Amino acid sequence: MASDLGRSGSSTENVVTVLGGTGFLGRRIVSRLLDKKINVRAASRHPARDRFHASPQLKRIEANILDRSSIAAAISGSRAVVNAVSLYVERGEQSFERVHVKAAADLAAVSREAGVGKFIQISGIGSDAKSSSTYVSARGRGEDAVKSAFAQATIVRPSVMVGPGDTFLTTIIRLVKLLPVYPLFGTGDTQLQPVHVEDVAEAVARLASGQTDIDARLFECAGPRVYSYRSLVQEIASLLRIRTILMPVPYPVWTLLAAAAEWLPAAPLTRNQVELMQDDNIASGNFPGLEDLSIEPCELDAAVRMIDEGHA
Ligand SMILES: NC(=O)c1ccc[n+]([C@@H]2O[C@H](COP(=O)([O-])OP(=O)(O)OC[C@H]3O[C@@H](n4cnc5c(N)ncnc54)[C@H](OP(=O)(O)O)[C@@H]3O)[C@@H](O)[C@H]2O)c1
Repeated sequence: MASDLGRSGSSTENVVTVLGGTGFLGRRIVSRLLDKKINVRAASRHPARDRFHASPQLKRIEANILDRSSIAAAISGSRAVVNAVSLYVERGEQSFERVHVKAAADLAAVSREAGVGKFIQISGIGSDAKSSSTYVSARGRGEDAVKSAFAQATIVRPSVMVGPGDTFLTTIIRLVKLLPVYPLFGTGDTQLQPVHVEDVAEAVARLASGQTDIDARLFECAGPRVYSYRSLVQEIASLLRIRTILMPVPYPVWTLLAAAAEWLPAAPLTRNQVELMQDDNIASGNFPGLEDLSIEPCELDAAVRMIDEGHA
């Protein structure tokens, strides 16, 4: 693998830094990079919470994306930087604007100034600066701000990601097993294209390690099938061999429930998720995706089986 040259002309270390490297997606990106024998820094506010085995290729770094000096230290000397930091519920200074727009742009700018060769911003399918949703609009403006700060940045937009440790599929599986009547988001017609988190991690690792020749700046990573929410729940119930009755529940009821749930430590449902469930979340088909990175996306049943069997 060719080593990247920084802007200063000095050779950067063969290191990829993953901000949010202990998260649901981030820790899998780290693992995939380690599998490719790449040196990795997994950076987050609580690096000790990770689940990685000790490896001479891996450094755990404490960094807060809201603090420019800490991100400068974290990314120093890296050949590539991945921003996999999330924020699903706004709290105090952690607003969507602060994290997904300002901090993402700061990280991109600091990376460019440090001579990082490649910057990858994890965003989401449907990100749109003009959206009326504060979350979706922040994701869209975040992409624009990152591109202004780091012109050659690559944006990766996953659809809803599934796999052990997810909130989406795990919650559906738990509820299908628990409830004889399953409450749908609205009428359950929203279209979704769930993607296995390991497939997205592999895509990001290939992009970060230069294991692809595709010259594109935006990728949409979606699963192999489009489901309505209703048909997705039916499919999961059928895979688990459970008979379930589906009941439409209007969105305003969900919003009230989510507002209450957000007070719980690990919110099982957020207003932002309820808002997202009202719009289709599928690949536009206008951008390259997993197949273009030579990744055959996993079918849903693999993730359902792994979660049902209690894989970590
Ligand atoms: N999950 C999905 O279905 C989905 C779908 C589409 C797009 N995405 C996007 O994919 C990305 C990763 O999502 P995820 O679900 O993997 O998130 P996650 O599991 O919540 O992980 C977030 C990571 O960011 C770190 N983090 C949070 N705030 C930070 C801060 N201020 N400074 C430094 N690190 C911080 C967390 O560690 P600490 O708390 O220790 O700092 C953790 O490592 C996000 O951009 C998300 O919007 C996710």
